[in-house]
Amino acid sequence: MRMYDLIYTKKLGGALSPEQIAFWVRGATDGSIPDEQSASLLMAICWRGMSTEETLALTLGMRDSGARMDLSAVPGLKVDKHSTGGVGDKTTLILGPIVAACGVPCPMFSGRGLGHTGGTVDKFAAIPGLKVELSEAEFLRSLAETRFANSAQTADIAPADKKLYALRDVTATVESIPLITASIMSKKLAGGADALVLDVKCGPTAFMKTLEDATALAQSMVAVGKAHGMQMRALITRMDAPLGWAIGNALEVMECVEILRGEHGDSELAQMSFRLAAEMLVMGGAATTLEAAQAKVQASLSKGTALETLRCFVALNGGDAQALDDFSRLPQPGQVLDVLADRAGYISAIDGRALGILAMDLGAGRRDRNDILDLGVGIRVLAQVGQKMEKGEILFQIYAKATEIIDSNAFLTTMAWSSAPVAHQSWLLAVIA
Ligand code: URA
Repeated sequence: MRMYDLIYTKKLGGALSPEQIAFWVRGATDGSIPDEQSASLLMAICWRGMSTEETLALTLGMRDSGARMDLSAVPGLKVDKHSTGGVGDKTTLILGPIVAACGVPCPMFSGRGLGHTGGTVDKFAAIPGLKVELSEAEFLRSLAETRFANSAQTADIAPADKKLYALRDVTATVESIPLITASIMSKKLAGGADALVLDVKCGPTAFMKTLEDATALAQSMVAVGKAHGMQMRALITRMDAPLGWAIGNALEVMECVEILRGEHGDSELAQMSFRLAAEMLVMGGAATTLEAAQAKVQASLSKGTALETLRCFVALNGGDAQALDDFSRLPQPGQVLDVLADRAGYISAIDGRALGILAMDLGAGRRDRNDILDLGVGIRVLAQVGQKMEKGEILFQIYAKATEIIDSNAFLTTMAWSSAPVAHQSWLLAVIA
């Protein structure tokens, strides 16, 4: 088999056989196929696409390039969640403990942030002492003892994805539905859960900008998961403004704990987390309807069992559980600067991507993979889309090492204003089953 023939076939829009795809994935991973040939094929796939059969073969090849987790020692259906990511997206820290507290084991592997979006691993790393890279034995112990486990993706899960994603990252070939599907689903299938809820983000700051593209990605991932016996469901959710009031790692932990304490229950972040958790409870067999599942979610908050599950998870894995009750034990910023509204009116839009980049510049995110984060810095966003603000009210609080060098104008320009009330848009755009 020659790699040249695969590239030529795909360049003309032809289909690759499962054997050809397996040959490519093997060769890309072991280095026998040079990067320039893989990069050419990736670009041809971006332009020409892949059939469901090809996407399935690519997913399988990538899943089988490394180890697979065996979660069978933990009883019950295991349910995972994946979000395609966005600024301020911290639903894992909320729904993981809720789902576990309601009796459904929730095994999760997460990533570190790069660029304007944060990563779940970095948010957990803001809890002092918490081990965020668990061995397989530690992961299984956490799942067995607290029903919740979250760890950074280990290097032996889908190494082909690591290799191909690094190439995609530098060749402008990330935004492709079959490539995203295979990348995400190979890791999820290797992770060993029985069911998966997807949160596919849609909007100007997400991979998928239109509802049509987000639906196509959700359908593609749902089809691949189901073909492998995974229960699948996808929510398509709006992503433009930051999700919740916190951007930055310690701040995001605080926001999640506040929601687990029962605060901010009607915020978009809380509503989204509760709905995803309810979907997971139905898939895990803890409830037969979404309404019954929502009632369990609320009970886990009012009885404090969800927050207690998070405390147990943190303590079991070496973290300072008291930091969840005493935020002064979390990483702190040097200084805090208020940015005040320079006019009165209604907020009509907030540019989440721009705020994500500003948070990255403060040190909350990575410009480069090897950057060291400042876990205490970030942005508190005190206004939401649709809110009426008076001139002089606080729009943002900037948590920084030193605030003298901060340009307040850069923050002010992330908000668009209207003189008339702004129509409320639902965060939930569609459900794909
Ligand atoms: N996240 C992934 O893990 N893979 C992609 O291709 C895109 C987002």
